[in-house]
Amino acid sequence: MFSSQPVDGDLTANAIFLTLSLHGDDAALQAFRDFCADLPGLIRAVGFRNAGAGLSCVLGIGDGLWDRLAMGAHPQGLHPFREIAGVHRAPATAGDILLHIRATRPDFCFELATQIMRRLGSVATVEDETQGFKFFDNRDLLGFVDGTENPAGADRSSAVLIGDEDAGFAGGSYVIVQKYLHDMARWEAMSTEAQEQVIGRHKLSDIEFPDAEKASHAHNVLTNINDAEGNQLQILRDNMPFGSPARCEFGTYFIGYACEPGRIETMLTNMFVGLPPGNYDRILDVSTPVTGALFFVPSAGLLDRIGAGQPALPPAAPNEPDPRPQGSLGIGSLKQGN
Ligand code: HEM
Repeated sequence: MFSSQPVDGDLTANAIFLTLSLHGDDAALQAFRDFCADLPGLIRAVGFRNAGAGLSCVLGIGDGLWDRLAMGAHPQGLHPFREIAGVHRAPATAGDILLHIRATRPDFCFELATQIMRRLGSVATVEDETQGFKFFDNRDLLGFVDGTENPAGADRSSAVLIGDEDAGFAGGSYVIVQKYLHDMARWEAMSTEAQEQVIGRHKLSDIEFPDAEKASHAHNVLTNINDAEGNQLQILRDNMPFGSPARCEFGTYFIGYACEPGRIETMLTNMFVGLPPGNYDRILDVSTPVTGALFFVPSAGLLDRIGAGQPALPPAAPNEPDPRPQGSLGIGSLKQGN
């Protein structure tokens, strides 16, 4: 049994994404451990003021910080984000810590981010802070509904949570984030029909094109991937629009969770290099990623161990009680699994 962080929650109306780099000294590392121990309490304290706000927070840890924590074991899929230089470029940017804060109300996200920065602000550099918002009926700023084909129910959990394949880290997850800026003038110069060919769906109704009518480079062709047996490999996206009309900034914050990062990386390769190479995703003609980072999301129990300065434990031997602590973040859709 494990308790995961609430990675598999539903789309919310508001989110704040914080990417931080921890200072290199031992005091900063200890401050981060203390923060991990206290994060569940912080979320409870802010969230309890109105449970209906559905406040939750997921903490991700980058490869470099994981090694510094000296946990004695390494999640199989954790590595630095690898830049992709294809027809378009997906850059790799800095970040040790990702905080994905979600709520139905912006004030709850704002307050938790404030409390987090009070704890980490003096020991970490802010690489990026993005405040995302719901845009009408879950549309991105390109005007298409975003998130429709996300897996639901048990499919969602199996898509995002690490299982027996890396049993010491069961209940954890991986997350890749990229902050995209849109060239709205270029996008708006395209006809609606041409935009629909880029995405592979009708814009107003959000109905998917029949496969025979999709362009080979449609976004939903290039990101639809299968394993060797033909089973679809799914991820969970919680993309949010962000921007500033005054600065002429219009963007999509891409955030994808998966039980192993390879499936997100394959989608990215299909998009940026193309499948076959050259047949790339035309979203990228109007959308440019300015960040790119990969994080491991420990289970709630493992987060407790980081906070307590204890090493990660090997998986329990068969027929022996699992010695791993059953931690809880107290707020959000904590997942119980086997
Ligand atoms: C500018 C950035 C992006 C925008 C605006 C965008 C927008 C969309 C839209 C409108 C859809 C169709 C509705 C839906 O099913 O959600 C979609 C589907 C999807 N996107 Fe993206 N997306 C972006 C980046 C990415 C990236 C970087 C990935 C993965 C690495 C990705 C993976 C997917 C997947 C897996 C689907 C579902 C495909 C299917 O099976 O139908 N997207 N996206």
